Amino acid sequence: MKAPIRVAVTGAAGQIGYALLFRIASGQLFGKDQPVILHLVEVPPVMGALDGVEMELDDCAFPTLAGVVKADSDHLEDGFADCNFVLCVGSVPRKAGMERGDLIRINGPIFTNTGKAIQAAAAKDVRIVVVGNPCNTNCLIAMANAPDIPRDRWYAMMMLDENRAVSQLAKKSGMTVADVKNMTIWGNHSATQYPDFYNATIGGKPAADVIGDESWLQDTFIETVQKRGAAVIQARGASSAASAANACIDTVKNIITPTPAGESFSAAICSDGSYGIDEGLICSFPLTSDGSNWSIKQGVKQNEWAQAKVDATVAELKEERDTVKDLLP
Ligand code: NAI
Repeated sequence: MKAPIRVAVTGAAGQIGYALLFRIASGQLFGKDQPVILHLVEVPPVMGALDGVEMELDDCAFPTLAGVVKADSDHLEDGFADCNFVLCVGSVPRKAGMERGDLIRINGPIFTNTGKAIQAAAAKDVRIVVVGNPCNTNCLIAMANAPDIPRDRWYAMMMLDENRAVSQLAKKSGMTVADVKNMTIWGNHSATQYPDFYNATIGGKPAADVIGDESWLQDTFIETVQKRGAAVIQARGASSAASAANACIDTVKNIITPTPAGESFSAAICSDGSYGIDEGLICSFPLTSDGSNWSIKQGVKQNEWAQAKVDATVAELKEERDTVKDLLP
């Protein structure tokens, strides 16, 4: 039997946590021959509910679940001790009347402590995926507070946006989701994100040619993807949880699996200056993985209309970075 992988999940008793933990524990993420020890992190008032989640994990009798560690957010180093992956889901949700800037200021300090504790306690090979919103800027704050951890270990989740876009293109074209490739989301996980349909393919052909309706792509498609989170809240009365957990699983799988030739996936990583995007911003790009390290796919062309969309989402990331300047040592 292999040595166990340790995976920390913050916000473990929340909606996404509840949809995520059982899939990791069951072997769906790392495989049926890879034991996993789950580290569950929550705020102190929620530790009772977390006991209930642990009971349910016990009651599944998953052969791949080699242990559960629980820690509250006042003891983050215990929560992240020797972890190989840290999935940062926990954060304060946006409430009615709250501006995006308010949310950034409320959640920023959580990620200062998170970064410091990951650096102090996690395994040497730790990789971090930030899900809690605003995920790009939260990731930037945590990374800045953990200067000893290589910058290529940090990710903010964009896979839910990519999956939403893939599904919309498959539906519109009458093809399957497996036919849609290279559906990159550029920029920020927010309403400014740019779903790059011009460089996507359906059944090996340019998506725009297959769909044959550029105004639908430029208007309806983009807006549907950008506003999908709000539409789910409207319909379900609660924000996306199962699909967000699924996207988190997909993100880690994309990181640890070599990307098939000619394909790419979306995640926000620390920009190396590619495509003229400021070095150090946590921005989403088309990526490939060799099974452990990512590379930004080069040579992707944008027309003038698309470049303006990329510029707008990058401008928003810069504004967010300026809003939290004091949290970036
Ligand atoms: P939720 O409110 O159901 O759960 C969040 C959990 O985090 C709560 O149990 C809360 O007690 C916990 N928490 C709060 N502060 C914490 C801290 N400092 N340390 C540890 N735990 C803490 O929310 P839900 O639906 O699970 O969403 C979680 C986050 O994921 C939200 O910020 C949401 O906006 C974000 N999200 C991101 C997506 C993406 O594509 N990047 C998609 C969907 C949601």
